[in-house]
Amino acid sequence: MKKVLIAYGSRTGNTEKMAEYIAEGIRFSGNDVELRKITEIKKGEELQGYDAYIFGSPTYHRDMIGTMKTFLFLAEKAGLEGKVGGAFGSYTHSGDAPGIILDTMQYVFKMAVSDLGSLRIKEAVIGTPDGMKACQDYGRSLGEQLNG
Ligand SMILES: Cc1cc2nc3c(=O)[nH]c(=O)nc-3n(C[C@H](O)[C@H](O)[C@H](O)COP(=O)(O)O)c2cc1C
Repeated sequence: MKKVLIAYGSRTGNTEKMAEYIAEGIRFSGNDVELRKITEIKKGEELQGYDAYIFGSPTYHRDMIGTMKTFLFLAEKAGLEGKVGGAFGSYTHSGDAPGIILDTMQYVFKMAVSDLGSLRIKEAVIGTPDGMKACQDYGRSLGEQLNG
């Protein structure tokens, strides 16, 4: 059984909901998952010991939230090279954040980002069966990738 960390920020709860659904998908794949808010992670050492990392941020002002930038500077020193990575976030019209985060994971942290790419879901869809399923499928597929 592999262990996945989902670390996310969310201002009004939409990205948090996505995080919960993605976690369900990872459990469906038979793997273990830990859900953490980025504001509660204070040290790089807290990022050790996972096989895969999925980072989540909504898009505000065509960017990730400020706390995610701070978190990524912390993650930079955590030695995530070669680990599997994914990213997600809620949005309404441009949805830039997940793609930018995944870029950083791939090109700066040298992580093995998932072929699934990043997952962005419009906030109006998250609470629907389709939105829930898209998140669960993302988690399940990423988990199945870890199963080899
Ligand atoms: C001030 C403000 C700026 C926003 N800027 C963007 C944006 O640039 N692009 C976008 O797609 N959504 C934008 N949104 C919409 C949010 O991404 C959306 O409400 C999202 O669901 C919030 O997620 P959260 O509940 O996890 O915080 C903005 C919302 C607010 C209130």
